[in-house]
Amino acid sequence: MYKKIYENIIDELVENGYIVIENALHKQLASELLDKAKQSDNFKKAGISASNEKHIDGRRRRDKILWLDEDNDCVSRYLAFANGLREYLNRSLYLGLSYYEAHFAVYQKGDFYEKHLDAFKNSKNRVVTTVYYLNDVWSEEDGGELLIYDKEGNFIKKVYPKANTLVVFMSEEFPHEVLPAGKERYSIAGWFRIDKR
Ligand code: OGA
Ligand code: MN
Repeated sequence: MYKKIYENIIDELVENGYIVIENALHKQLASELLDKAKQSDNFKKAGISASNEKHIDGRRRRDKILWLDEDNDCVSRYLAFANGLREYLNRSLYLGLSYYEAHFAVYQKGDFYEKHLDAFKNSKNRVVTTVYYLNDVWSEEDGGELLIYDKEGNFIKKVYPKANTLVVFMSEEFPHEVLPAGKERYSIAGWFRIDKR
């Protein structure tokens, strides 16, 4: 049922390595996922993994996260979309993606995530990144934009974290950062991986 969007994503990944799609899935899905995230009190401070060691470093990253699992209807529907995309990527681009992992993230007012890469060259883990936004109202004054850079560090794209906007990019190729949020900001960050779970 997502054939069109899968094909669009594949084409843009081949052409540019990234894509930003507004109104990507069903609006209703984004709003159910937002409710689900807001209802949960299990969010934990996010770590930065460096040399396999997780440490919490509030200087680089201030969000709180909650890993998705299939316990819930709207989460299952989101994961069905993602796994459909995984199959499409494997069939079209032979990426050999073995699984998808994803977490909700909440940024409180003032929270940010410094410029980083989701995967390191040759680390053979995270290959394709997704970010799906859940905020039903967001305007320019609310900050919290995702800024995407190219490999040389040149700025290429600003994304407002508006509900139902989906970003997909090659994990090793695009440094990115989250500017300080002006108010509570919800997203789902996910990664297609090629290692064993
Ligand atoms: C991440 C990330 C971006 C966002 O979690 O690695 O870059 O806009 N998130 O939430
Ligand atoms: Mn990231």
